[in-house]
Amino acid sequence: MIYNVMTAEQAAELINDGDVVGFSGFTPAGAPKEVPSALAARAEALHAEGKPFKIGMYTGASTGDSTDGALARANAISFRTPYQSNKDLRNSLNTPGGAQYFDMHLSQLAQELRYGFMPKPTVAIIEACDINDAGEIVLTSGVGISPTIANLADRIIIELNERHPKSLRGMHDIYEPCDPPCRHEIPVYSVSDRAGVPVLRVDPKKVVAVVKTNRKDEVGGFTAPDEVTTQIGKYVSEFLTNEMRLGRIPKSFLPVQSGVGNIANAVMFELGNNPEIPAFTMFTEVIQDAVIDLMKKGRITFASGCSLTVTDPVLQEIYDNMDFFHNKLVLRPQELSNNPGLVRRLGLITINTALEADIYGNINSTHVMGTKMMNGLGGSGDFTRNAYISIFTTPSTAKNGAISAIVPMVSHIDHSEHSVKVLITEHGIADLRGKSPIQRANLIIDNCVDPSYRPLMREYLASASKGHTPTNLSTCFGMHQAFMETGDMHNAKF
Ligand code: COA
Repeated sequence: MIYNVMTAEQAAELINDGDVVGFSGFTPAGAPKEVPSALAARAEALHAEGKPFKIGMYTGASTGDSTDGALARANAISFRTPYQSNKDLRNSLNTPGGAQYFDMHLSQLAQELRYGFMPKPTVAIIEACDINDAGEIVLTSGVGISPTIANLADRIIIELNERHPKSLRGMHDIYEPCDPPCRHEIPVYSVSDRAGVPVLRVDPKKVVAVVKTNRKDEVGGFTAPDEVTTQIGKYVSEFLTNEMRLGRIPKSFLPVQSGVGNIANAVMFELGNNPEIPAFTMFTEVIQDAVIDLMKKGRITFASGCSLTVTDPVLQEIYDNMDFFHNKLVLRPQELSNNPGLVRRLGLITINTALEADIYGNINSTHVMGTKMMNGLGGSGDFTRNAYISIFTTPSTAKNGAISAIVPMVSHIDHSEHSVKVLITEHGIADLRGKSPIQRANLIIDNCVDPSYRPLMREYLASASKGHTPTNLSTCFGMHQAFMETGDMHNAKF
């Protein structure tokens, strides 16, 4: 190997205060682990000496605790984008003086870096399972923004992770679109088409360090579906089978995108076990455990994603059975996996989770009580706005019923009423297509709101000024205010 093999600590020494660092991977899958941990330790040591040390951070999406958690705890982040889900980073970015965070549609990050809209990454840290002397890199379980940061950065540090087999070669589809005014359509016309090449090609002279490791991805487990998530999954499945019966979804079905977390897992379980739904494909962002399970059962025939965000035993199972999985999986940069043009072209059924929805169908995916950032909008906007049919799911209440997830007006808007077609809670389905605002409000209150909050919602609607979209400007956040003041939205007065 022509590269300088060194320890993570030595590689961290190559990164300076003020550097802008791009990280490989998407979710904890494919994210580097050794160098970020060493970087956090370097920051702490420098801070102890009274010296400044902070970096700007670009990632694919969330990462593992050894990146976002360790660097946030070390107070080593000056700015950070896009999606994150780490509790220490969340604390930092919600605290004045903490990390400056800006939330972005995941599909847009790579191109906006190329356009020069944000500071250029100076260093890229890329997890790989293989690299040759020609600078051909085989990525691991997640792709994210790796091609773009590797091209833009002056220095590349490779974390060569032996836990991921070299036989992963061939699973990736590495492609960067040309920038306007020269962009052509991306040649993906069905979920399994490939637009690019299996390896990431970099200038070998830019590779300043190779750090060897065998640390596993820091993907957390999923909680088993409970009554609420199971019921939501059943309603999603019921809604989609009905659409097929009515001829609004083809009998061969359409590719599915499904969000992150426990509801998504429960929804996939129900779709997979519904005999009326034929075996289907996924064109999605994260490929979770449930997808792999359904693939083994023949219920999912192909999945295109940005990462294998699966638990360690499931990842091992994939690696032990590469002959079976190789022609059923493709991992692409988020610029492709979440590409709005491809989402519209392929006709995706998109299913994402709301933090909060309002009676008109606006969705808040990100902000608690309008102020505190939870995670970020991730790819939900990429998919929702361009879907064949966009579905949002949410439990009808949070915090043991003290919060209604459906409110008169969302305290922050990520997805507007114009993009959201269907809302589903454990109480039922509100099909918002072709409905006026007042029709949508009545439908959502009747079908989706928790029964204990329905009278309150009706009082609000009765008190609202009449017009195209009934609104009471002085009380539309009354339920949020009641929660802030009394700890329970039921105490709102309209
Ligand atoms: N107001 C205040 N807090 C709320 C709330 C509301 N309306 N609804 C939920 N919460 C709280 C829950 O109580 C829980 O708090 P805890 O962590 O203290 O227990 C927390 O928010 C998470 O809720 P949970 O029901 O566990 O949700 P989840 O894990 O399914 O995540 C989102 C829900 C919206 C945060 C998550 O899906 C997300 O980040 N979405 C945006 C990105 C996205 O959609 N990505 C997919 C695109 S491919």
